[in-house]
Amino acid sequence: MRDHYCGLVGEKDISKKITLNGWVQYRRDHGGVIFVDLRDHTGFVQIVFNPEQADIFKAAESLRAEAVIRVEGLVRHRTAETINDKIPTGAYEIVAETMVIHNHAKSPPFSIGDDFHLPKEDTRLSYRFLDLRRPVMQHNIRLRAKAMAKLRHYCEEATFVDIETPILTKPTPEGARDYLVPSRTQQGHCYALPQSPQVLKQILMISGFDRYYQIVRCFRDEDLRADRQPEFTQLDLEMAFVDEKQVMHTVENIIRNTCQDLGVTLTDTFPIYRYDDVMDQYGSDKPDLRNPLKLQIIDGLVKDCGFKVFADPATQDKHRVVALKAPGATAKLSRKALDEYTKMVSQLGAKGLAYIKVNQRNDLKEGLQSPLLKFIPENIIDAILNEVDAKDGDIIFFGAGTDAVVCQTMSALRDALGKDLDLIEAGWQPLWVVDWPMFEVTNDQQGQHVQACHHPFTAPTETDIDAFKASPLDSRARAYDLVLNGYEIGGGSIRIHQPDLQYAVLDVLGMDQHQADEAFGHLTEALTYGAPPHGGFALGVDRFCMLLTESDSIRDVIAFPKTQNARCLLSQAPATAPLEQYLELGLNIIKTES
Ligand code: AMO
Ligand code: AMP
Repeated sequence: MRDHYCGLVGEKDISKKITLNGWVQYRRDHGGVIFVDLRDHTGFVQIVFNPEQADIFKAAESLRAEAVIRVEGLVRHRTAETINDKIPTGAYEIVAETMVIHNHAKSPPFSIGDDFHLPKEDTRLSYRFLDLRRPVMQHNIRLRAKAMAKLRHYCEEATFVDIETPILTKPTPEGARDYLVPSRTQQGHCYALPQSPQVLKQILMISGFDRYYQIVRCFRDEDLRADRQPEFTQLDLEMAFVDEKQVMHTVENIIRNTCQDLGVTLTDTFPIYRYDDVMDQYGSDKPDLRNPLKLQIIDGLVKDCGFKVFADPATQDKHRVVALKAPGATAKLSRKALDEYTKMVSQLGAKGLAYIKVNQRNDLKEGLQSPLLKFIPENIIDAILNEVDAKDGDIIFFGAGTDAVVCQTMSALRDALGKDLDLIEAGWQPLWVVDWPMFEVTNDQQGQHVQACHHPFTAPTETDIDAFKASPLDSRARAYDLVLNGYEIGGGSIRIHQPDLQYAVLDVLGMDQHQADEAFGHLTEALTYGAPPHGGFALGVDRFCMLLTESDSIRDVIAFPKTQNARCLLSQAPATAPLEQYLELGLNIIKTES
């Protein structure tokens, strides 16, 4: 049907008769000549219809955007004044001799060639078949395919074995809600779609496979954001007889080689940061190291300052006071910008956002502007300014309160200042975050809740069970997260391979031995039959591809993503099924609409 692609027409084709197929991007009528930009996945090229070819000229008059045609014609140079040097085929055109209209198209709700006037995302998702025709989406989805192929290649090269695990499976707690599939044959019972193949990949290590990998879909019914989907893809790995260094080294190589093949050079080794240190310095467990701003804890300086808002958290457990210096910000940030920051941090739970505008560092009386000056003695203000090395023109921001709120709000402020002051450096900043707490404790009206920071199969640093049991909540995990440019792109850990320790960890999470066997009997049993030490990792492929394509959302690297409330606007899933089907599953519908 064709012998050339639109975007690849070039000098070699001059004076040749070629056949192209594609979509009409634009049609322009110019003084008796019709020009059509014809597009396929490689790009587009100009077709010329002359009135002398009366039959096809008439047909060309009927062409609208997105009609699908076949054209046969002669390739020639465009005249010098009509050359378009912005596109690869801009020096050529094809003079049509024959044309077949495969199909006309309804007027599309947005123009495929115009990335500047995109409709709202819902429209793009409803008409995804059109949206995916856009060159940027073609590029994203194709780059994703390439990335997957490379990841697979480097896993194979490192002797990993590709093993599929079931989609209809048993719940594995990874911290999110499960998607459930009711069983027809065993009514009242459900399968859960896997949040990840965690338990099964561990069982594969116990089964002697030594190195497993899989590019696998995972399902989590959780609140969605720009970097979260209810179903997403992991490159999932597990290795036997390894420690964390070996897993991290192997993962680094796979990722670095994949990136290199896609034209992205990453550092030779990825820096390793301790969890406590990133929280102290950046307020985040996934800091964007392209942003040079750092938080500084100033508890020691303000503990006796007399200003309760600072002095109290400076002396309380699990509280802190931090300073964040924004260099040269007085000239760049308006009063309105400061109000916006205050609004942002209060929405995230902060009680306020104190700051000092340093107009003249050496004049403590007249050179500073700050609501703090009337509360905090001059010598302490001076000490704070020394601590952060304040210079004329800087603004110092302060957060005081619980560790959680201060970290969250000041890290959001750090991100905002990085962008607004144009401080984000170009390039790629990967890092590992290690030495995580084993457990996260939250308190609410129902009492204390303990959750695994990573997942319940992660080994604590203590190898001795009694040592672990003595103070489990202080325990550290043998877990590692991989962060790239401020996104958590993957995570993993060394696992527990002794049944007793596994029961002890599940006990901290509120599961006695009986409940543990009910939930994960297949793992706890397998652990008693000779489990090797093992560990692994999972790369979030969607987030990885989002970064590689410099997209703002993982939806832009997923062909058919879901919306914020987990709907597919293209197919309208989820949808109701015929009543008989619910009854067959033993389900009684109480409410069908919300
Ligand atoms: P974890 O839960 O950290 O680890 O997931 C690994 C990586 O998967 C990506 N990810 C997501 N991407 C898009 N949408 C989501 N809803 C979503 N949730 C997670 C992230 C994350 O870093 N079984 C363990 C891995 C292991 O221990 O080996 C696991 O799933 O990039
Ligand atoms: P106030 O005593 O509430 O008038 O606060 C004095 C200054 O401290 C104001 O600039 C507030 O924005 C700021 N402030 C109040 N609470 C906090 C807090 N928890 N962290 C940082 N700044 C605060």
